[in-house]
Amino acid sequence: MIVSFSLNGEARTVDVPGDTPLLWVVRDDLGLKGTKFGCGLAACGSCTLHVDGEAVRSCSLPVQAAEGREVTTIEGLGDPENPHPVQRAWIELIVPQCGYCQPGFMMAAAALLAETPNPTDDDIDATITNICRCATHARVRKAIHRAAELAAEVAAGARTAEGRRNGDTSSEDGAGGDR
Ligand code: FES
Ligand code: FES
Repeated sequence: MIVSFSLNGEARTVDVPGDTPLLWVVRDDLGLKGTKFGCGLAACGSCTLHVDGEAVRSCSLPVQAAEGREVTTIEGLGDPENPHPVQRAWIELIVPQCGYCQPGFMMAAAALLAETPNPTDDDIDATITNICRCATHARVRKAIHRAAELAAEVAAGARTAEGRRNGDTSSEDGAGGDR
């Protein structure tokens, strides 16, 4: 079956059985190894990625369900020049131990913050149900709070820049403005 979707912003097409787990396709057919296999039963969260912005356990999603949708993996969350606030917080608080489960945690955290910019501990505990055999859960929770702060700083900076740009444009247009 031909299935087409966007992967980290790039159009991709694969020809595989439609019931192949999306995780298999992302790792084995498309070569992105950041998303991990843990249980294969939608229980551990290691394979979490985003489909249209929602956190999904890709070991249990048939690739045909991704047709026409936007898939984002840890490789597409940010990059070294422009890391996502979650990635910045993870580095700052040195969250990973062995690291195996961490891409799944970060993708789950990023989806939570997109939905709930300032989550409580209860929000985090209810949403981030991933499993870490190295027991990093307490640091994960701290890092999510820190990522929320960093995201708020980024948003405030963007608003200030936008305000300045609008002010500049008004002046250039001769449209006035009182500054
Ligand atoms: S590998 Fe998908 S939830 Fe564990
Ligand atoms: S950091 Fe080792 S399994 Fe989570």
